[in-house]
Amino acid sequence: GDARVAGIASSIRVIPDFPKPGIMFQDITTLLLDPKAFRDTIDLFVERYKDQGITVVAGVEARGFIFGPPIALAIGAKFVPLRKPKKLPGEVISEEYSLEYGTDKIEMHVGAVEDNDRALVVDDLIATGGTLCAAVNLLERVGAKVVECACVIELPELKGRDKLGDRPVFVLVKADGA
Ligand code: PRP
Ligand code: MG
Repeated sequence: GDARVAGIASSIRVIPDFPKPGIMFQDITTLLLDPKAFRDTIDLFVERYKDQGITVVAGVEARGFIFGPPIALAIGAKFVPLRKPKKLPGEVISEEYSLEYGTDKIEMHVGAVEDNDRALVVDDLIATGGTLCAAVNLLERVGAKVVECACVIELPELKGRDKLGDRPVFVLVKADGA
């Protein structure tokens, strides 16, 4: 492993019982308070993706908006925000996904991504995989090739990767416990 990963892992604060009893919340705001850990996080992604012909980085609102844009700038790709419903002013396509109770939706502007694009999907965390799966579906519906999904943290016990089938998911840190 990369020594930088250990520093990143220790910069993430774990808050028990947030937002409700039994949840160990992985708080990346403390990573953002540590300029070396934040820099290393972006560098590790950039090192991995700079030579993969990626033309678009798609970030999932809200926490994917923190990590996606610096990666996009560094690799020379466009950035496309995948937003919560009714935020984007232009024509959108939307994708529903299930939460523990009920459903949520993410939306993307039509025309932002085209069928010749090679996409990287960025978010802070993969838990059940529902959010990333919806993001991948949006990109694939417009014909883009999703090269990989990249997250800072994975909660492996929730088996989010299974939901993504054969789409590769790359993470820097695997959280222990659940
Ligand atoms: C969190 C997290 C991921 C998602 C992961 O976002 O930032 O986007 O949950 O969960 P999943 O793998 O089970 O789908 P959340 O919807 O809480 O909102 P936020 O990013 O706007 O804070
Ligand atoms: Mg999120």
